[in-house]
Amino acid sequence: MKVLMVCLGNICRSPVAEGVLRKLAEDKGLQLQVDSAGTAGYHIGSHPDKRSIKNAKKNGVDISNLVAREFSVNDFDNFDRIYALDANNLSDIHQLARNDEDKKKSDLLLNALFPGQNNAVPDPYYGGEKEFENVFQLIYAVCDKITDELVKELK
Ligand code: 4NP
Repeated sequence: MKVLMVCLGNICRSPVAEGVLRKLAEDKGLQLQVDSAGTAGYHIGSHPDKRSIKNAKKNGVDISNLVAREFSVNDFDNFDRIYALDANNLSDIHQLARNDEDKKKSDLLLNALFPGQNNAVPDPYYGGEKEFENVFQLIYAVCDKITDELVKELK
């Protein structure tokens, strides 16, 4: 199973989602391939935002080596599930979808925790430590549920 996490810059939220999902999958013995990307190209080649690295580290997840890249149409072929961190990200992903199958692979990440509520993981870029911690906790909760479900599904 291959899972892609997508936000705007691929430096604040989706690298945390990539790192957390990968760690929980490893902890639960799941064979998951995880990656992340941004819908915008501003930060291609950059490591995650220092505040995301610091906050994830505080919570036991190392994302310091990740490198930002831009989402591309090929990702529909390379991943089974594509999770968008907010509604703008999902809309940008849908703009690139070639057909319904592409569209069906993608959803808002938090819909896996709060079905049908269309909640966003808020962009912490202009926030402070509190916003980065909130992002981590939301992402952890949803990735914990996704991996629990995959453990049951793939057993
Ligand atoms: P991200 O956060 O989408 O969670 O990576 C942002 C990073 C950079 C910018 C906006 C959001 N930016 O405008 O450069």
